[in-house]
Amino acid sequence: MPDGAAVPTKWNEIRQRIADSQRLAVMTGAGISAESGVPTFRGADGLWRNFRAEELATPEAFARDPKLVWEWYDWRRGLIADCAPNPGHMALAQMATKVPVLNLITQNVDGLHELAGSTDPVEMHGNIWKVRCTDCGQVSADRRVPIPILPRCDGCGGLLRPHIVWFGESLDEAVLARSFGAFEYADIALIIGTSGVVQPAASLAGLAKRAGAYVVEINPDATPNRALVDVTLSCAAGAVLPHLVPL
Ligand code: APR
Repeated sequence: MPDGAAVPTKWNEIRQRIADSQRLAVMTGAGISAESGVPTFRGADGLWRNFRAEELATPEAFARDPKLVWEWYDWRRGLIADCAPNPGHMALAQMATKVPVLNLITQNVDGLHELAGSTDPVEMHGNIWKVRCTDCGQVSADRRVPIPILPRCDGCGGLLRPHIVWFGESLDEAVLARSFGAFEYADIALIIGTSGVVQPAASLAGLAKRAGAYVVEINPDATPNRALVDVTLSCAAGAVLPHLVPL
């Protein structure tokens, strides 16, 4: 929105709905971190050495070539280490202080919601700053950039992998229950910066809608969610979210 321009009426109406909400559910995807400089997965900047995420973020790819998969994650970790939360992340952290319940569910693994001050975001797909031993299963924080390739477990010497849910792997049961519960019982749902093609996250907008919530999508590009939500704000998340925080 240009400086000095009036805030669109629709934005004010949504801010009022948020102010009146009892249970707000928020889903974020890579788009909310795009303005922080984190490449999205399906955008033009999402390729690394001509590989797509679906070719690298799989247990099969890791079994075949753990060095290649770690090199990709090391590249992403290096990028993310230099990124800071943007006004979109900050607005969601602030919004949580203005409503009785805000459940924040993210597909992102970059940790930027927590850095912005959101407490206890549900990280559906894990966190890029955590590693897990493929032998003993121990999960630990690891912020080394660059990370030695191949990294080894301090406890047992086993090969470490990113603590991330890859394509073909199941999501944690408790995480799933919290995510579905948040959207089933929400009175308002915000779907922000996701292409809406990766399940089960992609089904949450529809779940909230069927359960009677008012569903708002924020995405400058068309997605499959557009047909089912109440309103789409075709804007960058960082431009609109600060205007949706109740006063
Ligand atoms: N504000 C809002 N939305 C944006 C912005 C922005 N500034 N910039 C881009 N977008 C939108 C894009 O139009 C796109 O629809 O964000 C979406 C990002 O989509 P994807 O790259 O597909 O990311 P996401 O939906 O989070 O991917 C889901 O796929 O690769 C896996 O596990 C990975 O969590 C990821 C999952």
